[in-house]
Amino acid sequence: MSTNQQIPHDKSLDNTPALLQEGYLFIDNRVDRYKSDIFIARILGQQAICMRGKEAAEIFYDTDKFQRKKAAPKRLQQTLFGKNAIQTMDNDAHFHRKLLFMSLLTPDHQQKLANLTDKYLHIALEKWELDYEINLFNEVKKVLCTAACEWAGVPLPTTEVEERAEDFISMIYSFGTIGPEHWEGRRARNRVENWIRGIISEVRSGKTEATKGTALYEMAFYKQQDETHLDDQMAAVELINVLRPIVANATFITFSALALHEYTEEKEKIKAEGKDYLEMFIHEVRRFYPFGPFVGAKVKHDFTWKNCQFNKGTLVMLDLYGTNHDPRLWDSPNTFNPRRFAKWQGGLFDFIPQGGGDPSKGHRCPGEGVTVEVMKVAIKFLVNKIYFEVPNQDFSFSLDQMPTLPKSGFVMRNVRKK
Ligand code: HEM
Repeated sequence: MSTNQQIPHDKSLDNTPALLQEGYLFIDNRVDRYKSDIFIARILGQQAICMRGKEAAEIFYDTDKFQRKKAAPKRLQQTLFGKNAIQTMDNDAHFHRKLLFMSLLTPDHQQKLANLTDKYLHIALEKWELDYEINLFNEVKKVLCTAACEWAGVPLPTTEVEERAEDFISMIYSFGTIGPEHWEGRRARNRVENWIRGIISEVRSGKTEATKGTALYEMAFYKQQDETHLDDQMAAVELINVLRPIVANATFITFSALALHEYTEEKEKIKAEGKDYLEMFIHEVRRFYPFGPFVGAKVKHDFTWKNCQFNKGTLVMLDLYGTNHDPRLWDSPNTFNPRRFAKWQGGLFDFIPQGGGDPSKGHRCPGEGVTVEVMKVAIKFLVNKIYFEVPNQDFSFSLDQMPTLPKSGFVMRNVRKK
């Protein structure tokens, strides 16, 4: 194996504790320190090449060079993704499965989900009007869980909304943790898998009805390349891979509320300038605030890039947060400025809050359309449909916790319909 002497090596015996401590800034800090977009570290006991920037993203999403098999640590599969899910697949099998996800997330589907989100925000508002204060993150996660399940065709009794929403959030918020929080994430995943597996099995036996075209039906009856169905467990894991990230949008919606509060002129701009400005605002929220920190893959075959020897089987990590704050791509990256997107050319590798490249060919998130449409509805609701006060609270969010959130969850007082 090449020693890659010309590439900076982090001296630490194992960087895993540093990664958990520095969180979103782990790669960025070292890119700055070594003045190099690429460096070598040790993560979870193995050598890892860490990279940041547009060129790095371009190479990382080359599926001839990288694979996902054996790249995701077990702890991620036990909480966030589920075992052997789409995130860990490659080549034709991945492409085939990805088409299923893409077919469930078309503009038509995005609109249906956005309409349901709007409907359940208005229903929630009736209750919020009776409360002195509400916690936006906690409320929105329930709204999104209800909307996601109805959209997907998954039966969800009102009495179960709170616990199911909490389990989805726990699966997401445990991925960068160790100890009790990680274990809680695993228990949450087990509960959700049992629940959804039961529904898939009932749909297959005809005990529960599912409508063609819904995520529930399509996951239950999807045929793989060899014409076989996914087993109940795998179908459940993949259906959860659609439901869970919709609930995750509560994080971006909470950050949107924070942006509206902290950058007071944004509300008026959204009102005055309409759809195009709202879209720029949403992109800036997804660029500016931290959510997905980095993604990992393994080298498929030996190759050399930028004087670095990538040996087969080596773990490679791409910095999403750092690329979205790369000063070569973004002027004053730490300034919140939606208008920067007026000039943005729509590149596939510079703005990568949900991964890079073409989603139908690689692992980029298939849910960006859904994310944007749901955020649109929620932001319009906050700006145009309600009055509220924002009491003193702790808005700070830590960059060493992955994922993160404003500490208070964004508390709103005296919420009233306009
Ligand atoms: C809430 C905001 C979201 C964020 C921050 C986010 C972020 C990401 C990231 C970083 C990836 C990994 C990209 C890679 O491996 O290279 C990903 C993959 C994925 N996302 Fe999202 N996502 C979001 C919303 C959604 C939504 C709404 C859906 C579906 C309804 C979704 C479904 C998926 C799936 C299925 C994958 C795996 C794709 C594959 O491996 O081919 N995500 N997402």
